[in-house]
Amino acid sequence: MRSFYLSCLCALLCVLSVNAQELRSPDGNFILAFKVNNGVPVYTLQYKGKTVINESKLGFELKQLGSFSKDFSIKGIASKSEDQTWQPVWGQQKDIRDLHNELFVQLTQAATGRELDIRFRLFNDGLGFRYEFPVQPNLRHLSIQNEVTEFNLAKDYKAFWLPGDYDTNEFETVTSKISEIHSLIDKARERMAANSPTPNLAVQTPLMLKSDDGLYVNIHEAALVDFPAMCLNVDDQHFIFSAHLTPDKLGNRGFVQTGKTSPWRTVIVSDDARQILASTLILNLNEPCAIKDPSWIHPVKYVGVWWEYFTGGGSTWQYTDNQDIIIGKTDYKTLKPNGHHGANTAHVKEMIDFAATNGFDAVLVEGWNEGWEDGTANAKEHIYSFTKAYPDFDVQELHKYAASKNVKIIMHHETTSSVTDYERQLEDAFQFMVDNGYNSVKTGYVGPIQPHSEYHDGQYMVNHYLHVAQLAAKYKIMVDSHEAVRPTGLCRTWPNWLAQESARGTEFESFGGNRPDHTCVLPFTRLMGGPMDYTPGIFEGNLEVYGKNKAKLSTTLVKQLALYVTMYSPLQMAADLPANYNKFADAFQFIKDVAVDWDNTYVLEAEPGDYITIARKAKAKEEWYIGGITDENAREAMIKFDFLPAGKKYTATVYADDKDISWKVNPQKYTIKKMVVTNKTVLKQKLAPGGGVAISVKP
Ligand code: NOJ
Ligand code: CA
Repeated sequence: MRSFYLSCLCALLCVLSVNAQELRSPDGNFILAFKVNNGVPVYTLQYKGKTVINESKLGFELKQLGSFSKDFSIKGIASKSEDQTWQPVWGQQKDIRDLHNELFVQLTQAATGRELDIRFRLFNDGLGFRYEFPVQPNLRHLSIQNEVTEFNLAKDYKAFWLPGDYDTNEFETVTSKISEIHSLIDKARERMAANSPTPNLAVQTPLMLKSDDGLYVNIHEAALVDFPAMCLNVDDQHFIFSAHLTPDKLGNRGFVQTGKTSPWRTVIVSDDARQILASTLILNLNEPCAIKDPSWIHPVKYVGVWWEYFTGGGSTWQYTDNQDIIIGKTDYKTLKPNGHHGANTAHVKEMIDFAATNGFDAVLVEGWNEGWEDGTANAKEHIYSFTKAYPDFDVQELHKYAASKNVKIIMHHETTSSVTDYERQLEDAFQFMVDNGYNSVKTGYVGPIQPHSEYHDGQYMVNHYLHVAQLAAKYKIMVDSHEAVRPTGLCRTWPNWLAQESARGTEFESFGGNRPDHTCVLPFTRLMGGPMDYTPGIFEGNLEVYGKNKAKLSTTLVKQLALYVTMYSPLQMAADLPANYNKFADAFQFIKDVAVDWDNTYVLEAEPGDYITIARKAKAKEEWYIGGITDENAREAMIKFDFLPAGKKYTATVYADDKDISWKVNPQKYTIKKMVVTNKTVLKQKLAPGGGVAISVKP
C-alpha cells in the first residue's frame, strides 16, 4: 500500500476566484476545472482533449435560508493524491486500486458568512465530487429546497434511461436521444405506475449516455447515506441534466446537519464501453468496510420456493383463502388451509434435498410466515409477523433438517412497505433468525410506503434500508433487499448487504416479459451501483406449460446460463423448478459449476443495449467462466482467451445456442462441446437472436 499527500494551501484567493483551478487525473486523460464565476461555483470536465461536461453550476437552494449557490468566494484550496489497493470482502476482483487526485475547495458566502466545501476526486475512470457542510457558527441544520448541481453535456447524446420515479426502478429501459426524453416519458411510465408522483421531467440514475463521436458517459452517485436519492432533471433543448432530489411528501428535499456530507456525484467516462463496466470508481468513493470481522460474510448460490409462485402452476404464498385475519390475534390453526400453500415442511425438505445434491448453499422460502392473506385492509397491529410461521411450516424441524444437509434457509421478510411496523419487529425478527439457524434475509418493499407514507427513494427510506443492513450486521445476517432504492456502492462498507433487486428482474418474465436487450442495458445502468439479485436460470421459458400463464421468456436457454457471468452478483439464484433442471441436467451443470466470487474480471466485448462478453477468474481457483449475451440480434462473439496464464492447456466446455434458433424459435436447443484452449486461442462463437454463450474453463 502506498499513500502520499501533496497538500498546498493557496494564498492567492482573489486571483483564484477568477482563474480556474485545474485538477488532472493520474493518467492525465481527465482535466477538471473549478472556478467561482461571479459568485457562482462552476466546474467543467474534459476527457482526452474533449469537453464532456461544459460549465455547470454547483450548490443548493435552501428552505428559509435562501440561495447556497451564489455570492461565494474561495476561502481555501487544498489538493492531495492517493494510491492504495484494498481488498473487498467479495467482488469482481480481489484487489481494487484507488488511485486518484483530489481538489478540496472551501467556499464562503459573502453576505451570510456561511460556508460550503466541495471535494473533487479525479480517477482514471472519471470524476466524483461531493458537498461537505462544515461545522460553523451560523449554521447548524439546513433543509434543502433544491440541489443546483448540473451536468451540462451540450450535445444530444443517446441515452439509456428510466423515468425519474420516486418509488420504483422496475421500468423497462428506454433508449432514445436526450432530446426525445420528454416526449417519451409518459409512455415509459404507462405500464408501471399509474399513481407515480414524479413530475414528468426527470430520469433516474445510473444514466448511461453515448455521444455520436463514441464517448460513453455514466452519471450516478456513490455512498447514498442520510440523503435523498438523486434523479436528474432534463433540459432537452440544451442537453443539461441537473440534480432532482427525491422529496418527502411535504416537498422537502433533504435535511442536513453541519458536519455531514452529500453523497458523491459521479461521472464515469471512456471512449471504450468496456471501461464503463470495468470502472471501480463508485466502490472507491465509498468508505472502507465497517464490519470489523467480516469472516461470516460470503457469497451465496441458492434455489428457492419462489418461481412456482410466478409460473401460474398454482402454489401460493398464502396458507388459507380466509381473509378475515388479524395478525397477532387470529389462530391460523383454526383456519382451513387452501391446499396449495408453497412453504410447507415437506416441500421445503424436497428443496433442501435438491440444494444439497447439487451443491447450493441455500434455499429461499417465501410465504412461510403469517400475514400473506391480508394485503393491508384488516391489519390492526402487524401486516406480517416475522416471528410466527404458518401451521404447516415447522421451523424447528426444518432448522434441524437443513443443518443436517449443510444447507441454509434464506429468511424472507416481505414488508409491503409497512416500514414502521417492520422496524418495530426488527430486533425480534433477527433474533428469531439467529435462534433458528438463518444467516441471510431477503427483504421486500412492494407497494407504496405505509403508514409513514414516504417515497421509496427519499431520505427517510434511504435511512431505513441502511439501518436494516447495519442492524443485520450486528446479528451476523446477510441482506438481499428487493424494491429498495438502487445501490450506490454501500456494499463496500456493509458487505453483508449482498445484493439488491431495484430493477426489473426475472419475475417480469412471468408478467409478460423483459425485452431481449434488457440484460444488455442493466450492467451499464442499474449494476453500476452494485450487485443485482436478478434470479436467472429459467430453463422452461414457456409458462403456458403450467396452465394459466401465457408469458414467454425473452431469451434462449443458453443466455440464461450466460447471465450468471454477465450480471455480476455475489448472490445468484437458480430460479427455475428442480424438474426443469433435471430435464436439462447437462446444461444445469454450468449453473452448478459457476463461481459467485472472483479474483479477476475481464470485459472482452461490450456495447450498451447490444451485447456483453465477460470472462472472470474464480476466487482462489484455477477456473474461469465466460458469459456472452446479445440483444434481439444474432451476433458473433469474438472470445480471446488471452486472460489465461501463458504456456498451459485448459479444457473449455462451451454451452452454445443451437443453429437456427432464437428466443422465439426453439429457445431450449443448445449444444455442449469441449475444446482445448490456451491463452492464444480465439473463439468465434455464434449467438442466436436473444441468445448467448457460456463457457467454463478448467485445467
Ligand atoms: C417482489 C419481489 O421482487 C419478489 O421476488 C417477491 O417474491 C415478491 N415481491 C413477494 O415478496
Ligand atoms: Ca420486485
